[in-house]
Amino acid sequence: MKNTVSTILKQKQDRDKITMLTAYDYSTAKLMDEAGVNCLLIGDSLGMVMLGYEDTLSVTMADIIHHTKAVKRGAKNALVIADMPFMSYQSSVYDAVVNAGRLIKEAGAHMVKLEGGAAVTEHIRAITDASIPVCAHLGLTPQSINAFGGFKVQGKTLETARTLVDDALKVEAAGAVLVVLEAIPAAIAEIITEKLTIPTIGIGAGAGCDGQVLVYQDMLNMYGNMKPKFVKVFGEVGEAMTAAFSAYIEETKNGTFPAEEHAFSGQLNEAELAELRKAL
Ligand code: KIV
Repeated sequence: MKNTVSTILKQKQDRDKITMLTAYDYSTAKLMDEAGVNCLLIGDSLGMVMLGYEDTLSVTMADIIHHTKAVKRGAKNALVIADMPFMSYQSSVYDAVVNAGRLIKEAGAHMVKLEGGAAVTEHIRAITDASIPVCAHLGLTPQSINAFGGFKVQGKTLETARTLVDDALKVEAAGAVLVVLEAIPAAIAEIITEKLTIPTIGIGAGAGCDGQVLVYQDMLNMYGNMKPKFVKVFGEVGEAMTAAFSAYIEETKNGTFPAEEHAFSGQLNEAELAELRKAL
């Protein structure tokens, strides 16, 4: 079944948890789609896990468009959500609409995601008015790490928790149809989830959210540079990949790969092969 804005809203109403994973390429997106994930997010986390940057700030519109196109080709049923990179929307409401439009028109995304609360409600309203569904993102918003002073849990005090609840209500009122809650206390995420009619998707926000999202390199233990507390490893794929790469190197060096079954035979008989050898 195709996942749409309506089906994920119905999942909230039915208390059927929504699943989201990040994806950045065709073959991984296809595997996730076949497994039945509801939403695929081309997160700007791609800057770190795919491109090797220290944070997400250098990611460009071209990067997101390139990876979204690949994911879209692999996604038959999943809802494809493209992240708006740093400075593709903060600069003006006009830039926000133009760049959101490019992610839909050029890359084929079904929805765009942007970070922030009260400061971006005008942007959310304008993008929504252009008939583009918006996913908001609150809490630890990685595009603000310089303002936060690092990757830190948000909403720990009464004042900051109030701001988070207020921001969640504001992004919903502005037209957002989904909201990601990152690295905030579980109790605050639960309050937000109860207050909103739109679904909440948690990452480090506890089990009370309407759904969950993980960066796939984290859940498969393929990216050792950072290990947030909220990550659960669902498969030791990083280890399996290293073992496979080592086995390939070993077998190539010792001559056991390729074996006979991996090679092609031509139509020449022994005499013709001998003639060819002589001629050379
Ligand atoms: O960029 C990203 O992958 C994200 C998720 C962690 C929600 O924003």
